[in-house]
Amino acid sequence: MSTPTKPMPPRWSKRSPFPARLVADRLLSGPGSAKEIRHYELDLGDSGIQYTPGDALAVLPVNSPALVDALLAAQGLDGGTDVGGTDLRSRLSTELEISLPHRPLFKALAERDPDSELAAVLARGEKEALHRWLWGRDVLDLLHASRTVRFTADELCTVLRPLQPRAYSISSSPLRHPGRAHLTVASVRYGGGAENGGGRVHGGVCSTYLADRVDEGATVGVFPQPNRSFGLPDDDTAPVIMVGPGTGLAPFRGFLHERAARGATGPNWLFFGDQHRASDFLYQDELTALADHGLLDRIDLAFSRDQTEKVYVQARMAENGADLFAWLQDGAHFYVCGDAQRMAQDVDAALHRIVEVHGGLDADAARDYVKGLRTSKRYVRDVW
Ligand SMILES: Cc1cc2nc3c(=O)[nH]c(=O)nc-3n(C[C@H](O)[C@H](O)[C@H](O)COP(=O)(O)OP(=O)(O)OC[C@H]3O[C@@H](n4cnc5c(N)ncnc54)[C@H](O)[C@@H]3O)c2cc1C
Ligand SMILES: NC(=O)c1ccc[n+]([C@@H]2O[C@H](COP(=O)([O-])OP(=O)(O)OC[C@H]3O[C@@H](n4cnc5c(N)ncnc54)[C@H](OP(=O)(O)O)[C@@H]3O)[C@@H](O)[C@H]2O)c1
Repeated sequence: MSTPTKPMPPRWSKRSPFPARLVADRLLSGPGSAKEIRHYELDLGDSGIQYTPGDALAVLPVNSPALVDALLAAQGLDGGTDVGGTDLRSRLSTELEISLPHRPLFKALAERDPDSELAAVLARGEKEALHRWLWGRDVLDLLHASRTVRFTADELCTVLRPLQPRAYSISSSPLRHPGRAHLTVASVRYGGGAENGGGRVHGGVCSTYLADRVDEGATVGVFPQPNRSFGLPDDDTAPVIMVGPGTGLAPFRGFLHERAARGATGPNWLFFGDQHRASDFLYQDELTALADHGLLDRIDLAFSRDQTEKVYVQARMAENGADLFAWLQDGAHFYVCGDAQRMAQDVDAALHRIVEVHGGLDADAARDYVKGLRTSKRYVRDVW
């Protein structure tokens, strides 16, 4: 049985988000975890929002009032100042990106304070050096570093770019949880301790908005972000292999709920990993139950910090390479979700190696094999 694909009602967007009620918010990471991963449930009410597992939900955040106050204080500005018909405080709260610095801001700061460190880094014209210098610094850090620079309220609104919605992979199936979208979100927090360079705790705009500033029962502005290239196969008998360490697990929880609700008979294999089994095995009870009931045929885990040597999901893939290749030969669809920078590339390399070793192919032939998987849409990734 395949899920009917209905067109998304187009009316919910960045400009016109649906106010979804937050009906559940719980911590998934256990005591002692270095992370804060939370499970949210949003009631889609009468929005008409339809989704299929693999789709994302975009969330429109509201900035931290404390950060807005700090910015106003740093620039000696009055939040009540009118800027284009709206007061400055409102614009900083809901319309402008006040955390992640962008080019118009750092160009303006460098022009006005040419002796600053930032101006020197910019003058070198090296993208990588600029990226390194900016890493861990937010708008307020940049303003503090250029203490002599004062923007007017209008200027400040011009050098900050519009606040962007953040996408989150939906971690539920509408067949299992009709009218709801579940999200699995890592709260971004850094700095704030001697071991992190000291200073303020910096919070990711949207993940801390959900974690700290939206109470259960309150609403969050959302709109659907369909991902037509990252969905389950229509064929319920097709095998599915999912590689999703960390929050990369999110869409696969939805996939598994969907496969169970559809009575899909195709086998399912999940590779999951995170730092420690004791504190970071997300949805452990659910996944264990799915495995016990036979819906999850195989689950291979890589807890990277439970032993002296790091172990990642790609090591588990390699250990089970012969079976993985056999599944591919049987028509398996291979999915990867999570970190784009490192994990997705390493998993891709591991996949090529498995095809080489267990398919008895040379590097070129293995590349063609994997390319074939991609072109037939049996190897798809949702990485960020
Ligand atoms: C299609 C898609 C699906 C996604 N699905 C999920 C999901 O299911 N779950 C999930 O948690 N996220 C997911 N994301 C990521 C999500 O959209 C956000 O990017 C994430 O939550 C961070 O947003 P934020 O507003 O909290 O942080 P932002 O305010 O955007 O800040 C993030 C920035 O902070 C800086 N930063 C972060 N950590 C550090 C550090 N340790 N030291 C210094 N600087 C740092 C970096 O510059 C980083 O870019 C997805 C993204 C996409 C595109
Ligand atoms: N680009 C970056 O530098 C970076 C760093 C961290 C997180 N992130 C992003 O932060 C968000 C939240 O991350 P998360 O906490 O859900 O998960 P995560 O940081 O991706 O970690 C999940 C697991 O993946 C492991 N891992 C690290 N490098 C890996 C690699 N090259 N290949 C395979 N596994 C690897 C981690 O191990 P260890 O942590 O023990 O190494 C951990 O066990 C994601 O959006 C992620 O993309 C990005």
